[in-house]
Amino acid sequence: MERVITGIPGFDDILKGGIPRRNVVLLAGGPGTGKSIFGYQYLYNGLKRGEHGVLVALEEHPVQIRISMSQFGWDISEYESAGEFAIVDAFTAGIGEAAKRERYVVRAPDDFQALVDVLRAAIRETKAERVVVDSVTTLYITKPVLARSMVLQLKKILSGMGCTSILISQVSVTERGFGGPGVEHAADGIVRLDLDEIGGELRRSLIVWKMRGTAHSMRRHPFEITDKGIVVKKESMEIPREVR
Ligand SMILES: Nc1ncnc2c1ncn2[C@@H]1O[C@H](COP(=O)(O)OP(=O)(O)O)[C@@H](O)[C@H]1O
Ligand SMILES: [Mg+2]
Repeated sequence: MERVITGIPGFDDILKGGIPRRNVVLLAGGPGTGKSIFGYQYLYNGLKRGEHGVLVALEEHPVQIRISMSQFGWDISEYESAGEFAIVDAFTAGIGEAAKRERYVVRAPDDFQALVDVLRAAIRETKAERVVVDSVTTLYITKPVLARSMVLQLKKILSGMGCTSILISQVSVTERGFGGPGVEHAADGIVRLDLDEIGGELRRSLIVWKMRGTAHSMRRHPFEITDKGIVVKKESMEIPREVR
């Protein structure tokens, strides 16, 4: 079976070699848990391997995303110029000077079909193999009944176009779920990032809840965010009951 190597230190081992190709993985977590960084790192590592990528930006300005990525040493500008990487701007609605320089702009970010059309064009033109949507929660926050069908539609398109994708899902600080309703059933994989205060200290950990097509670690693994990005540890970690 073909796998996509995330290149995130320690993470591919947890998945016994990487994400099975064409899987759509829900990356769920609370604020500040490292979801966006995980997504950027996955895309940048792909570019270094010659696997093109698309990032759908629903939550942050594309200009801000380029700055955030460069802070980890992930310079995407040459890949953008070469047409190997694209940011789909579903954030600015084309408003502002900086937005006028964006190539893929969703004029009406509330219009899901418009977003899908721009995303398809971006994947086709860049020949993307990796896609990250940051975040899918933004798509259905005002219409939760559509959540599952939107995720299913995205899955059909992304998997159908041969992409291996990460859909970022926001959950609240106290929620232990995956962001819903029902989206977790539509995804091929679920990875949950956590941030917990243990003994007066915030500790990061992740757990692979589900990954279609492969065995995976059933343990919770601590991870760190360094100036080179996410590093996942081999050892397992327990969150004390009183914290949960
Ligand atoms: N250079 C860095 N070194 C260590 N930690 C960092 C660095 N940059 C950001 N962080 C951590 O990453 C967090 C933000 O991660 P992010 O992926 O944006 O979270 P999310 O998308 O889940 O809200 C920050 O709150 C901070 O704790
Ligand atoms: Mg984020």
